[in-house]
Amino acid sequence: MAATAPKSLGAGEGAGNIGFDRSGIAGESKGLLKVLDTARKVAKSDSSVLITGESGTGKELIARAIHRNSTRRNGPMVIINCGAIPSELLESELFGHEKGAFTGAHRSRTGRFEIADNGSLFLDEIGDMSSDLQVKLLRAIQERKFERVGGTQTIAVDIRVISATNKDLAAAIKEGEFREDLYYRLNVIPIHILPLRERRDDIFPLTDYFQNNLLDRSTDYQIKQFSDQAKQVLTHYEWPGNIRELENMVERISVLVEEVDIQVHDLPECMITPSSHHTSSSVSSVFNNGIGFNEAVDQYQRSLISHALNESGWVKARAAEMLKMNRTTLVEKLKKMHIKPEMETPIF
Ligand SMILES: Nc1ncnc2c1ncn2[C@@H]1O[C@H](COP(=O)(O)OP(=O)(O)OP(=O)(O)O)[C@@H](O)[C@H]1O
Ligand SMILES: [Mg+2]
Repeated sequence: MAATAPKSLGAGEGAGNIGFDRSGIAGESKGLLKVLDTARKVAKSDSSVLITGESGTGKELIARAIHRNSTRRNGPMVIINCGAIPSELLESELFGHEKGAFTGAHRSRTGRFEIADNGSLFLDEIGDMSSDLQVKLLRAIQERKFERVGGTQTIAVDIRVISATNKDLAAAIKEGEFREDLYYRLNVIPIHILPLRERRDDIFPLTDYFQNNLLDRSTDYQIKQFSDQAKQVLTHYEWPGNIRELENMVERISVLVEEVDIQVHDLPECMITPSSHHTSSSVSSVFNNGIGFNEAVDQYQRSLISHALNESGWVKARAAEMLKMNRTTLVEKLKKMHIKPEMETPIF
């Protein structure tokens, strides 16, 4: 069977986001739609935007969408990763330098602020910037004017600033690591992107999207189907790496699993091994997913039983001992709950 035609998210698709080109952004969860709605509104303005969210949640993707939907779309979108560049070089990266400004400055250089003129400047990992530079950045953003390192001429630019961080800037301010005045300057419009575990409705739309669009696959690639148990695992997994982790999982499975049907044992090890932080987050996931008391209890029982069985190599008497349960009760539960080998479901 040939692969189904790639499905793409075109301009304006997605409820409540008419007139906003959301190409490449999959998902329909309330949390994501709220982000897209704010992005749509802010795209029409020149206001500074601060995008926060854990690593891999799509901060850069949203920043690009804001630029693409703004009147600056024909201008440049310049990205600078403030965390990746040593602080002594970052100033010259941002503002440029004149010839002879420092040892090794053999010629003058244009900085990102100047390159971004008439476009957008995306300051990624802003929370990692040194305090010295924060002062200079504040002035440049406030006045849209700056001097190159070693220069005397003041340069004016017309830019919109979008910044992003996965750090808690409010805590960094308290610790004296981030300037409060800069924070308010950057955070005119805050956009917070929820981690994937708090918008689980996006898991399967994203899985489909990655299967349909991003995989470099041969024409005989068949879209994988996840078994009910595998879907359960994906639904309850914590996704610490967020959408990036999901994207990688889809790619890994598409390469390594030749069968069309994906079983629990085909999923990455970390997804099927319960970890210690599952229990506390499990409670909030019940409320976030609205799965209800009975289903939650049922899933918890399932997790405990399948874990004990896998630990004991499916020797039921040993598993029953681990669970401090009567062997016959265990056997009854296995039948009733249709638990079979290879089905370890994590404690969600
Ligand atoms: N809603 C989405 N639809 C499709 N792809 C997405 C979505 N959100 C994120 N991605 C993809 O997930 C990956 C990570 O996204 P992105 O780089 O924007 O995250 P980030 O928040 O900037 O991460 P980091 O903090 O690590 O820099 C990218 O490949 C991106 O295209
Ligand atoms: Mg990023």
